Amino acid sequence: MNPILSKLLLLLGLSLYQVNSFSIFEAVKKAFKVKDAPQKQLLTVGILTLPTGTNMLKHMSSSQYIWEMGDIWMREAGLNAVYIPYNATDEDLYPILDQINGVFFTGGSIDLYNYTTGVPHPYTVTAEKILNYSISHTDNGDYFPLLGICQGHQLLQLLVAKNTNAFGNSEFENKRINTVFVVDPRNQSKMLSTFSAEVLEEMATQDSLLHLHHHAIPLQDYQEFNSLSNFYRVLSINNINGQMIVSTTEAINYPVYTAQYHPEVVLEPASDINALRTPIGFKIAQAFTNFFASECNKNNHQFKDMNELEKLFVHNQKPEKAPFNTELVNLFGIEYN
Ligand SMILES: *[C@@H]1O[C@H](CO)[C@@H](O)[C@H](O)[C@H]1NC(C)=O
Ligand SMILES: *[C@@H]1O[C@H](CO)[C@@H](O)[C@H](O)[C@H]1NC(C)=O
Ligand SMILES: *[C@@H]1O[C@H](CO)[C@@H](O)[C@H](O)[C@H]1NC(C)=O
Ligand SMILES: *[C@@H]1O[C@H](CO)[C@@H](O)[C@H](O)[C@H]1NC(C)=O
Repeated sequence: MNPILSKLLLLLGLSLYQVNSFSIFEAVKKAFKVKDAPQKQLLTVGILTLPTGTNMLKHMSSSQYIWEMGDIWMREAGLNAVYIPYNATDEDLYPILDQINGVFFTGGSIDLYNYTTGVPHPYTVTAEKILNYSISHTDNGDYFPLLGICQGHQLLQLLVAKNTNAFGNSEFENKRINTVFVVDPRNQSKMLSTFSAEVLEEMATQDSLLHLHHHAIPLQDYQEFNSLSNFYRVLSINNINGQMIVSTTEAINYPVYTAQYHPEVVLEPASDINALRTPIGFKIAQAFTNFFASECNKNNHQFKDMNELEKLFVHNQKPEKAPFNTELVNLFGIEYN
């Protein structure tokens, strides 16, 4: 046999015995098909930076940052995280969106809107551009998923409500609680139906989900704002100090997922964060990112320039520390001028 052909067959894991059972011609055709198939090098996800708050500036020097736990959370599921400056210009923003597979909006403590004037924060404006991008691209067959946690959840709800009155007050600080599913998670949710029975049981029955918030989206909003109920399906709720709040949602027609609680905090070891750092706590965290990664894998966006990608990787930014609760936690400092 032609030595090049036998090498090719070896690469394909085919023995000569197998080859004899079908035509060599088929094997060659298969070889070329394998060679021609588009290959994804890497899945990447964008994380919007946060502006460094005044209480954090005592500890760190950078003007923008991303929590390390968010980067680890994404990477655990094969999503390589790159930063997107919260005040990115359109010239910088859109080329990044065209090359990444989805965006994750983390927790944080900025004012998404000026509570007096209603003027949105630059972070909120950039997030709205990204939500618009996800909607228009998904409509055109370029599936572009978003995930929002805590402040990211509130952000993605407010942007759809298009009304700052949808923002409710709700204090629940560093406490764990279960969540009450209002759909059958096994077959009435795209996201939750991929979670194991063990994870769903834990979320529903044990105090396993950490909340750390001063605001929330009241369930009442889903009666008041048609834009919300037309866009999202509420998956779970909680009664926090007598007020029903929305805890988990997914968009009905778009790959947009949100949770008020923090699955990712198990990945930050600071001892004053009341996270459930047991195997099931990690399984819950992993269930979210495994699902999100499978969604991100549905578009073919790829970074064109690996040097550019290296510059944007979150884990290549400046390691710093600042408080999440009161203890200092790891984060990456970023400058964008
Ligand atoms: C909100 O806007 C008002 C009027 O421009 C301004 O005085 C105030 O400082 C702003 N608040 C914040 C938190 O930026
Ligand atoms: C997002 O899309 C809506 C609807 O088309 C539009 O009104 C809004 O200005 C867009 N937002 C941004 C920040 O581009
Ligand atoms: C969801 O699954 C449960 C348990 O298998 C079943 O009882 C229920 O009818 C299903 N609901 C839907 C909408 O398929
Ligand atoms: C973005 O914000 C930073 C502060 O975080 C500021 O130094 C920088 O000038 C801003 N860049 C642009 C392009 O607005």
